[in-house]
Amino acid sequence: MKVRVEQGDISAFQAGAIIVNLFEGITSPGGGTGAVDAALDGAIASVIADGECRGKDGELTLIRTLGKIAAPRVIVAGLGKSEKFTLDKVRSVSAGAARYARRLRCKTVATITHGAGIAGLDPEACAQAVAEGAILGLYRFDRHKKPKEDDVALEDLTIVEFDEGRLDALRKGVERGTILAEAANFARDLANEPSNVLTPSELASRAQAYAQEAGLECEVFDRDWAEGQGMGAFLGVAAGSEQPPKFIVIRYQGGGSKHLALVGKGITFDTGGISIKPAAGMEEMKGDMSGGAAVIAAMGAIARLKPSINVTAVVPATENMPSGTATKPGDVLRAMNGKTIEVINTDAEGRLILADGLAYAAKDAPDAIIDIATLTGAISIALGDVAMGGMTNDKALYERVERAAEASGEKVWQLPMYDEYKEQIKSDVADMKNTGGRGAGSITAAFFLKEFVGDVPWVHLDMAGVDFYTKEKGVLVKGASGIPVRTLVHLALQMAE
Ligand code: BES
Ligand code: MN
Ligand code: ZN
Repeated sequence: MKVRVEQGDISAFQAGAIIVNLFEGITSPGGGTGAVDAALDGAIASVIADGECRGKDGELTLIRTLGKIAAPRVIVAGLGKSEKFTLDKVRSVSAGAARYARRLRCKTVATITHGAGIAGLDPEACAQAVAEGAILGLYRFDRHKKPKEDDVALEDLTIVEFDEGRLDALRKGVERGTILAEAANFARDLANEPSNVLTPSELASRAQAYAQEAGLECEVFDRDWAEGQGMGAFLGVAAGSEQPPKFIVIRYQGGGSKHLALVGKGITFDTGGISIKPAAGMEEMKGDMSGGAAVIAAMGAIARLKPSINVTAVVPATENMPSGTATKPGDVLRAMNGKTIEVINTDAEGRLILADGLAYAAKDAPDAIIDIATLTGAISIALGDVAMGGMTNDKALYERVERAAEASGEKVWQLPMYDEYKEQIKSDVADMKNTGGRGAGSITAAFFLKEFVGDVPWVHLDMAGVDFYTKEKGVLVKGASGIPVRTLVHLALQMAE
C-alpha cells in the first residue's frame, strides 16, 4: 500500500472511505471530524447522541454517506480517553481503521492526522504513526495460499491536510513511517516463512538481495570460513544439520564516530537437537531466526534514513537438528574467543551461535553491541507476550535502548544481572556450561552471552515471548511480529544524534 499526503478538505475527498476520529466523552466533534459531520448534516453527532459512537479506544463506527459527500463511507475511529492518548495509540488506531476499511472492500481511503488536532501532538510524528500503523496493520503472510478470487487490497491511503504549511512536515513523517513499517514487514516475511523454504542459505540470499537494494554490502561466510575463525560453538550447533550454515554480515557506513553492532539469532529451525523438543508447538520454531531477521531488516531502514553512524549486523544462521553427526550433551565446544563450553542441553543452542556472533562483533571494538534473540521460554513465563526482556552490562546503553523502544511503542523490561546468578553456569569440565538450571533461565542465558562481549557495552534482548502472535491487535497481526526492528532503527538514529 502507498501512503500519500494531499492538501484539501477531507469532507470533499473522493475515496472508498474517509477516516475521522473521536475522543471518548466528546459530544460535538471539532476539527476534521467536525467538518465531515457538518457536510453530512450532523450524521456523526447523531450516532454520538444515540450512544452508538462513544469514542472508546478501538471502536469503529461506519456511516453511509448516501451521496452527501464524495466518499460513500465515513469511519469514525475511537481514540479512547484523551488523558491516556499517545503516539502509539495513533499507530493502533490507524492499523485498526485500515483493516476495517479493507474488510469493507475499500481500495482507497483518506484520513485525517489522528493526534494532530485537539490532542496537540507533533503533526510530523502523527503522520509517521498513521503511515507506520496502517502499513504494519495491513500486513498479511499469504504467499503460500491460493488467492481468494474476490479479495481486495487496500492500495492507497491519503492523509488529507487543510493547512498548506503543514504538508512538508507530514510528508517527512509519512516517509519515515513507511520506511520503518516496511522494514518490520520484511522481518515478518522472513520469520513467517517455513523452514523448508527459509534455510540458512535462503536467509543469506534474501539478506544479500535486501542489502543490495538498500545499497549496503553484505558478506556471507560458509562453514570453512567459520572453521578458520575458530567458531566452534556456532559449528557445534550446525553439526547436526544437512543444511550448510551461513554467517551473515551486513555493514552500513554512515560516517560519524560511533559504531553500533547488532547481532541476531538465526536458527532457521530449532528441533532442540539431541535434547529434542516435544512435538506440540514445535512448528513455531520456524521463527527461531526472528532476532536475525530483525537485525537484517533494521539495516534496510537505517540505510534509507541515513543516520551518521556506522552499523554492523551479524547473523549466525543454521538449523538445530538431531542426527548422527549432531553435538551431544556432555560435548565440549570452543568458541572463537577461546572460551570452552560444556553442552548440557543441545536445545540451549541460541546462546552457542550467539557466543561466536558476539565474539566476532566485539573484535571490531564497537561502541555498543545489541543482541536480539528468541532465546528462552523462561522470558515468556516472566513477561508474557507483552514485553522483551532486557539485560545489560552497561546502564547508560540500556537507557538508550529503553528510549528507542519507547519511541517505537515496542516494550522492553529490564531483568537484573546480579553476580550471584553466574554461579549457575559454572562447569566442572569447561569454562562454562550452556544451561543454568531451573531458576532465572533468561538471566543465566544472559550471563553466558556476557562472556563473549569482553568490555564492550552490551544489551541483550530476549524476544521469545513477542516473536509470534495468534490474534490481531493494533499494529500486530497473526504470525510474526516484526519486533524489535523499529526499536533497533530508533536506537541507530538516536545514537547518531
Ligand atoms: N528457541 C528456544 C526458545 C523459545 C521458546 C523461543 C519458545 C520461542 C518460543 C531456545 O532455543 C530454547 O530451546 N531454549 C530452552 C533453553 C533451555 C534448554 C535452557 C528453553 O527455553 O527451554
Ligand atoms: Mn532451543
Ligand atoms: Zn532456539
